[in-house]
Amino acid sequence: MEDKNKILVTSPLLPSLNELQSYLERIWEDKWLTNNGKYHQELEKALCEYLKVPYISLFTNGTLPLIVALQAMRITGEVITTPYSFVATTHALWWNGIKPVFVDIDLATGNMDPQKIEAAITPKTTAIMPVHVYGNPCDTEAIQSIADKYGLKVIYDAAHAFGVEQNGKSILEAGDISTLSFHATKTYNTIEGGALICHDAKTKERIDYLKNFGFAGETTVIAPGINGKMDELRAAYGLLNLKQVDNAIEARKRVALAYRAGLKNTKGISFFEDVPNVKSNYSYFPIFIDAKEYGITRDELYFRLKEEKILGRRYFYPLISEFSTYKELPSSTRNNLLNAHKMADNVICLPMHQGLTDEDVLRIIQIIN
Ligand SMILES: Cc1ncc(COP(=O)(O)O)c(C=O)c1O
Repeated sequence: MEDKNKILVTSPLLPSLNELQSYLERIWEDKWLTNNGKYHQELEKALCEYLKVPYISLFTNGTLPLIVALQAMRITGEVITTPYSFVATTHALWWNGIKPVFVDIDLATGNMDPQKIEAAITPKTTAIMPVHVYGNPCDTEAIQSIADKYGLKVIYDAAHAFGVEQNGKSILEAGDISTLSFHATKTYNTIEGGALICHDAKTKERIDYLKNFGFAGETTVIAPGINGKMDELRAAYGLLNLKQVDNAIEARKRVALAYRAGLKNTKGISFFEDVPNVKSNYSYFPIFIDAKEYGITRDELYFRLKEEKILGRRYFYPLISEFSTYKELPSSTRNNLLNAHKMADNVICLPMHQGLTDEDVLRIIQIIN
């Protein structure tokens, strides 16, 4: 039985069962389950409109688009990236035989600090792979000007940035290519799912070949592609969730505003504010604990909340550079990543989803205060 007092860090946005049932009946009638089906095509079109982007390719999750983006752009050698993310970002490089080079982050956003990039470039560098962490936009202009100067590609892991806009433009327009995750825990979900966003028809065509084993027609295989195709059931589920994602983001915004109001005078607790000209998706609500000022450490607060059945998450701790695969890399030293360590050591992502009630949020604030 579900424990009513328990508050999870997230809760999936679910479509109406009746409406889903009606889609399922049509899929059963058509007997077309995957391979660029009708609902797959409909969802690509609907997402292009919603996200204000010209080209999107749907995937089965948010990790394969990262792996395929690197293949599509023919990235090799070394790629400059951030250690302050979910492991999939760096794993995608590793799966492509690419050496990750970590640079430190900017504490104001949690994102890669553009000022640290140039010093990390070597003759083997071919790309920069930043993350819009928590949906906070990277400094895309600064990153692009470095990329242009050195002839590098830019691949954004925008897994957290569904619907995020800056100055009225989608953040997905930045760089050469961006990836999204539609995992159940995300602001918009297709249970498992993801996408690649690119800026021209030729690149989309190449991506679509790569996500279908490399097939370009019945008998031609142009590259060692993979199977990353989204099926019709998830596409239908995605069409339904798209109708309610704006309401979900509104509800999340109310939660964020309530947290900010309730915690603004709490000594030793800080959080991100809304950024002017940025349309946020309120995907996470990270708080940062200054143990000296607050009186107890991040972990003490984390476990205290857990005792009260409030299950925040220490996203993103440990840093990716601390995992055994990456720990021995020259760029993984603590001294190279001081800001990233500071953020990782002090963060808790508080529960954040469209289903949280005012009482839930008040209870969480009261415990923290
Ligand atoms: C920053 C980031 N990149 C990539 C992924 C991978 O996405 P998925 O879980 O859909 O494979 C996630 C997922 O949670 C993520 O947070």
